[in-house]
Amino acid sequence: MKRLGILFSGRGSNFLAIADSIAAGKLLGCEIAVVISNKADAPGLAAARDRGLAAVAIEAQGRKRAEHDATIVACLREHHVDLICLAGYMRLLSPEFVQAFPQRILNIHPSLLPAFPGLDAQHQAFDYGVQVAGCTVHFVDEQLDHGVIVLQKTVPVLEDDDAQTLSARILEQEHLAYSEAIARVISGDYEFAGRRYVRKP
Ligand code: GAR
Repeated sequence: MKRLGILFSGRGSNFLAIADSIAAGKLLGCEIAVVISNKADAPGLAAARDRGLAAVAIEAQGRKRAEHDATIVACLREHHVDLICLAGYMRLLSPEFVQAFPQRILNIHPSLLPAFPGLDAQHQAFDYGVQVAGCTVHFVDEQLDHGVIVLQKTVPVLEDDDAQTLSARILEQEHLAYSEAIARVISGDYEFAGRRYVRKP
């Protein structure tokens, strides 16, 4: 059984979608070992506790990034986590954090990377005038929203969309994409081929 550590900063709807997939038996072979938020009042933490999951707030409290991250890494190790899922975790990881779990950290981002990294990706895409938007699940490396892509889902931009309606439709796809990506990674059926993550021959 692969043990997931899920990190988020706020609402936690992607975390809940993963938890729901596991509870519904749609994401086999894994369990949530711990959820961690850098915000003690993150709604996702309360939702995790309601489900009886280990839920920990680790706030930065003015500490340097590397120091804060070291506390998070220790917590993930205590819970014997195999795979880390950033799900709306709005802090860049320190190199020490990334190196502590090589190729074992995933992130979801609400754009078709490499377009529109950073904050408010859906708004950036809408304001740019794209006709196709979407989301990306990727391995985390030391650059922002950058590592090898596990999978992407596309969302057409409709004529009567505004940034909010588009964001909502992207979020629906995020909720499907993350569980699919986790299943792909824990299946052991995929391997790295340069910047590609491909099914093994
Ligand atoms: C999601 O849209 C996620 O893709 C985004 O934050 C939102 C969190 O929502 N992440 C990023 O922009 C990371 N660069 P949630 O808390 O409801 O899952």
